[in-house]
Amino acid sequence: MVESLSAAVHAHPDAASAYRAVAERLVELAGSPTPGRPRFSLALSGGATPERLFRLLANEYEGRLAWAEIDVGFADERAVPPDDARSNFALARRTLLDPLAVPAEHVHRIRGELRPTAEAARAYESDLRTLFPDGRDSFDTILLGVGPDGHTASLFPGAATLAEPERWVRDEPAPALEPKVPRITLTLPALAAARRVLFLVLGAEKRTALTAVLGDPRRGTSAAALPAARVQAREGVEWYVDSEAAPDLASPARD
Ligand code: 6PG
Repeated sequence: MVESLSAAVHAHPDAASAYRAVAERLVELAGSPTPGRPRFSLALSGGATPERLFRLLANEYEGRLAWAEIDVGFADERAVPPDDARSNFALARRTLLDPLAVPAEHVHRIRGELRPTAEAARAYESDLRTLFPDGRDSFDTILLGVGPDGHTASLFPGAATLAEPERWVRDEPAPALEPKVPRITLTLPALAAARRVLFLVLGAEKRTALTAVLGDPRRGTSAAALPAARVQAREGVEWYVDSEAAPDLASPARD
């Protein structure tokens, strides 16, 4: 593990090793949910990267996590119905939630089909405020990815939602990146209210963004002000990367 400018970076030789490290970390974290809460709470990231993690959790890691004791939310969602191929919920349902029979009452879906999308954001915010009534702390763990432009969740560079000072959920107009549909996203305050954030960033196409986001202490470059670089969490942000995304950091897995 190497310490970047502001977070713990777990550099892995390949994607399989990074996926496995995140699965192991989730097992570890789920063993110590926030005291006073009925269940461990986990928000799932969207996009394509998480699919192999979800399948790993639903197969090889089946039985390693007590899914009946986990509240599952989402870091963001596309403004599409839940059965749309672009829906982050659809991917999680197909590869994780249905295979593991996660109780529906513990799944907190962002209702991307609601219009206007501000209503979808308001509904999810209300759900989260009920789930986390103290109003201070959000999820125990939030999984996030990073886009090639340095976005995370659906917080895009230059977006007004980055300046949201207190609401946990905002809607976002269609971005320049595919899928070009409006989004609903956790905000920086919601991420900062989480106990931990785990980033999983894999592949050569993420190399430029990851270098910009993490900065490079050896070259004295600081983290850029990209959305992913602005994510904080109460007990820390952890990065799980492979040698394609972080060739300068990667070495035999040291976790
Ligand atoms: C989304 C995600 C988004 C994603 C990154 C990386 O809804 O698309 O929340 O933030 O994590 O864009 O996406 P990939 O894993 O597909 O590269």
